Amino acid sequence: MTGEPTADAESPSVTSPEAVPPERTAEAALRPRRLDEFVGQQVVRDQLSLVLDAASARGRAPEHMLLSGPPGLGKTTLAMIIAAELSVPLRITSGPAIQHAGDLAAILSSLDEGEVLFIDEIHRLARPAEEMLYIAMEDFRVDVVVGKGVGATSIPLDLPPFTAVGATTRAGLLPAPLRDRFGFIGHLDFYGAQELREVVHRSAARLEVELDEPAAVEISTRSRGTPRIANRLLRRVRDWAQVRGSGRLDLAAAKEALRVYEVDERGLDRLDRAVLSALCGRFSGGPVGLSTLAVAVGEETETVETMVEPYLVREGFLLRTPRGRAAAPAAWTHLGLEPPEGPEGTAPMLGRF
Ligand SMILES: Nc1ncnc2c1ncn2[C@@H]1O[C@H](COP(=O)(O)OP(=O)(O)OP(=O)(O)O)[C@@H](O)[C@H]1O
Ligand SMILES: [Mg+2]
Repeated sequence: MTGEPTADAESPSVTSPEAVPPERTAEAALRPRRLDEFVGQQVVRDQLSLVLDAASARGRAPEHMLLSGPPGLGKTTLAMIIAAELSVPLRITSGPAIQHAGDLAAILSSLDEGEVLFIDEIHRLARPAEEMLYIAMEDFRVDVVVGKGVGATSIPLDLPPFTAVGATTRAGLLPAPLRDRFGFIGHLDFYGAQELREVVHRSAARLEVELDEPAAVEISTRSRGTPRIANRLLRRVRDWAQVRGSGRLDLAAAKEALRVYEVDERGLDRLDRAVLSALCGRFSGGPVGLSTLAVAVGEETETVETMVEPYLVREGFLLRTPRGRAAAPAAWTHLGLEPPEGPEGTAPMLGRF
């Protein structure tokens, strides 16, 4: 028993796919460092390994790469792995951190040959920086502006070959000219239960805790296809096992810890269930407007839309219809209720479209 403080106790919701700042250290310790330690995402891993091997064989910096996919699936991890596999330094920045084109010019002009430049949230780059990046990526050149106002002149500066790695949760927001400058685009998708099981076993080994298979199954099936959530639930189960249990992460510890944190068998948390209950109960399955639904559960519309809905829709509990949100039969079943009869088993109100 280590008695160490919980690094991410401030997490707003244990099932949020996004990381909160205090949790970053805990995450860093669990990040796979090499491609062969990276679990799942077989397609992206194969493609990436080809790109990297080919570049190494040619002794040249590989093409620019874009990694896209929902939060917590391993984009930052892969960017770090790319640099590690190439044995080159990694420079990290992000769209929101670059306020002016000059900030980007400063970074670009200080890059060393072969360096990997990781730009997180690349869809949030300001337009002038974005334009500077196109040129740098294509021609390995940056125009440095010297002086101010009418006397300002721009001096072209040649850059050493480097590899830009962009990450985005919103590939659709990326302007086509920027997207086209990436020679490789990897799309990360949600993980399967077996892959998440591997993730938690690997993390347990890193944390030096004993995790048995039934507990790993329990944690992975409640992790919403997301390694970040799987690792977070694992840490919560570890807390429970160390404070109230035997120290061993077994099925009882997993079930109890996840009960305390109100994460159910399908990975739904308290708010997810409140939304479904309101939908099935008060609104008889809907359709009901998003804002009405949000008021009914005492939350902001945006919270319901961005934190709750995507997973409920993906799991087939909730339907987005032109007239509002509606419950799918699985919602009733999950809440232990009888789904109302309707055409082809859908909610009765939906039959009216
Ligand atoms: N394939 C994987 N194998 C093992 N662990 C993983 C894998 N992918 C992600 N993780 C774990 O999940 C955590 C979150 O991953 P990461 O920070 O790379 O996600 P991200 O896609 O960059 O998320 P965001 O969009 O929020 O930046 C990491 O700390 C890492 O430990
Ligand atoms: Mg990231």
